[in-house]
Amino acid sequence: MTQLKNDLFIKACRREPVERTPVWIMRQAGRYLPEYRAIRDKYDFITMCKTPELAAEVTIQPVDIIGVDAAIIFSDILVIPEAMGMKLEMLESKGPKLYNPIRNIEHVKKLNPVDPYKELKYVLDAVVLTKKELNGKVPLIGFAGAPWTLMTYMVEGGGSKNFSEIKKFIYNQPVAAHSLLNLLADITADYLSAIIESGANAVQIFDTWGGILSPKDFEEFSLQYIIKVISKIKRNTEPVIIFAKGVHYKMMELAQCGADVIGLDWTMNITEVRSLIGNKAALQGNLDPTILYCSEDKIRSETISVLESFGKGSGHIFNLGHGILPDVKPDNLRFLVDTVKKESVRFH
Ligand code: CP3
Repeated sequence: MTQLKNDLFIKACRREPVERTPVWIMRQAGRYLPEYRAIRDKYDFITMCKTPELAAEVTIQPVDIIGVDAAIIFSDILVIPEAMGMKLEMLESKGPKLYNPIRNIEHVKKLNPVDPYKELKYVLDAVVLTKKELNGKVPLIGFAGAPWTLMTYMVEGGGSKNFSEIKKFIYNQPVAAHSLLNLLADITADYLSAIIESGANAVQIFDTWGGILSPKDFEEFSLQYIIKVISKIKRNTEPVIIFAKGVHYKMMELAQCGADVIGLDWTMNITEVRSLIGNKAALQGNLDPTILYCSEDKIRSETISVLESFGKGSGHIFNLGHGILPDVKPDNLRFLVDTVKKESVRFH
């Protein structure tokens, strides 16, 4: 196995001492980069995901162009529903569409079983190739959606404004909902295990829609399945990160769900979460992504304010509070990353 030349991110996930705070950015491989758009102009999104050479190339772009301390494999959380037999399209400027959404137990029963080494082998191939091309420069993160967030897309058939279909589904057909969540938890655990076996140094679980649930429903429909996924992942020392957006009311539960790191959105106060959970987990985040539209002075002061809110010591990974927006200037992101590298030294 290639030795990592920069292991700051892995050390911070384990709350080991580091000389400065590591930084990577959710959705760092994407449309804000002209180098990404040049490739995307030639291929559709799903073809890029399914072609390991293209996936590896755009995965490495932000490492070389922006200088982040970790790469995240270029793919999507919706490759799992696609592998289960749902037709997926990425509509230009409208987001993902899944055809024939799941609305009852009969639909759930018709979904295909998934062997990640077969239906999702293209992701594993992309991980192997990316690791080879990175040659230990920075760690590689694999990822998946939380069962709840995947089910939301599968029932809504895409993005949603008020989530009425998924809410109708869980309240009117809880047996079907739990059966699908169990299925997704098993597939997701197998998939993340395969991603780690293929060489990923860490994995992140995205629960983008956790925050649309009441605290009680979050426990019933999301948290227990996150716990199931994490407990079933086959891993050695590879850290697991849980990013559950808008779930401010369950920080202690997330700190005890088996993950090594909790990702925080920008509505959270890092100081408060740190003092609440103590040394149960490392923290990742949480600059408001829209700060990247501002002047360098504002980006610097807000970056320092995030570093200060964690304070001194290890166990902080700098990131945005959600994905980078597509119309951000790459220069502003480069400035942010340089600022974290420079200003975080005094916190260690
Ligand atoms: O972080 C990275 O750079 C790795 C790649 C990555 C993508 N999607 C690529 C992508 C990751 C980690 C994801 C995760 C993902 N996908 C999530 C969870 C994270 C989050 O943002 O909450 C969700 C909810 C999805 C589903 C999805 N895929 C949506 C809602 C969209 C459309 C919105 C958008 O940003 O375009 C996608 C498409 C998508 N996934 C793109 C990229 C680079 C844009 C596709 C394009 O080039 O047209």
